[in-house]
Amino acid sequence: MMFFAVARRLGQSRPKGRAGGQRNPAAEFPDDSTHDDSIHNESIMVKVRDFLGPYRLARLIRLGSTCQVWEAILEQDNKRYALKVLRPEQRGNKEEIGFLKHEFEVAKELNHKNIIKLIEFRTNAETPFIVMELFSELNLKMAIRKGPEAIAYQLASIVDQACESLYYLHSKGYVHCDIKPDNLLLSRNWEVKLIDFTIAKKIRTGIGKLFGGKNKVEGTRSYMSPEQIKGGNLDPRSDIYSMGCMIYELIGGKAPYTANTPNDLLNKHVSAPIPSLLVNNDNVSSDFNNIVRKMLAKKPEDRPQDMWDVLKMVRTTPIFKKPPRIPSTNPFDDYQGGGRIEPAS
Ligand SMILES: Nc1ncnc2c1ncn2[C@@H]1O[C@H](COP(=O)(O)OP(=O)(O)OP(=O)(O)O)[C@@H](O)[C@H]1O
Ligand SMILES: [Mg+2]
Repeated sequence: MMFFAVARRLGQSRPKGRAGGQRNPAAEFPDDSTHDDSIHNESIMVKVRDFLGPYRLARLIRLGSTCQVWEAILEQDNKRYALKVLRPEQRGNKEEIGFLKHEFEVAKELNHKNIIKLIEFRTNAETPFIVMELFSELNLKMAIRKGPEAIAYQLASIVDQACESLYYLHSKGYVHCDIKPDNLLLSRNWEVKLIDFTIAKKIRTGIGKLFGGKNKVEGTRSYMSPEQIKGGNLDPRSDIYSMGCMIYELIGGKAPYTANTPNDLLNKHVSAPIPSLLVNNDNVSSDFNNIVRKMLAKKPEDRPQDMWDVLKMVRTTPIFKKPPRIPSTNPFDDYQGGGRIEPAS
């Protein structure tokens, strides 16, 4: 099957970023990645204009496709925060400003230990940005870059926290729509926090389900549910599918489906057989493998029906037959400030 809607959106938008419904294509198709020299250039900029309102920019944490994430210090209380700032070339882009505002609107009322706290949305010097609590910059994608063994011995706790964050988000009436390892941060003491509510949606209930119309196709290809790919109505079960893809990757080291073209990848979500983690790792318990496979069911009605069901199962089912060893390398070692949360000096 060809997914023309998605393919056309990809073709017509910006080369990077959440190009027409495809967020972070760089994670999947490496030739889209951001270059180091631009990071260098933007770091230099901080010397020229190093304040955004009352926040002093201290360090560029991450240069994304549309946003920069900065570590910043609020002069009045000397506390550190994370600022998500639109990149200069996007600052007049109403759609991108809308995404940032939307992210703040969704997350401002959320209050959970496994969800990043959003503090304010501001515009200073024509630059819109969100102020957040500063947490570890290490996301789960980065944490398994050298292989999933790096986090295997803490995986039960990581999965539990990730599922709790999503259970809470759903209880507040939202679907996240972009659950993936890149959007969960991990600290040195193995705390997990969900971020990035840019494309989160209100869960439609009652009559809204029938008359809501088709959804814009948005998401990240490696983790999109079949109904998300088809522009269908999204409920928590769509996030459960994406969470299944993510857990699969955290155990197996790669997402459940990979392909040479975007369209082949989307097709696989819709119709390829559901893969088994046991093929490459005989230490995975077959009960846990079955939970992940159930989360990956093509039809929402064949999946666990809500995150409470998922939580109950993951809490009572060991992931591995033998407890994984503590690895000699630490996933935080390669990252400046990765996982370290220090008081401002
Ligand atoms: N509160 C925070 N504290 C520390 N680091 C953070 C924080 N929020 C985000 N980051 C860092 O910035 C990265 C990107 O954040 P986020 O997912 O919100 O942006 P994005 O819109 O997805 O960016 P992209 O344009 O790359 O898709 C995270 O993976 C993490 O490394
Ligand atoms: Mg993100």
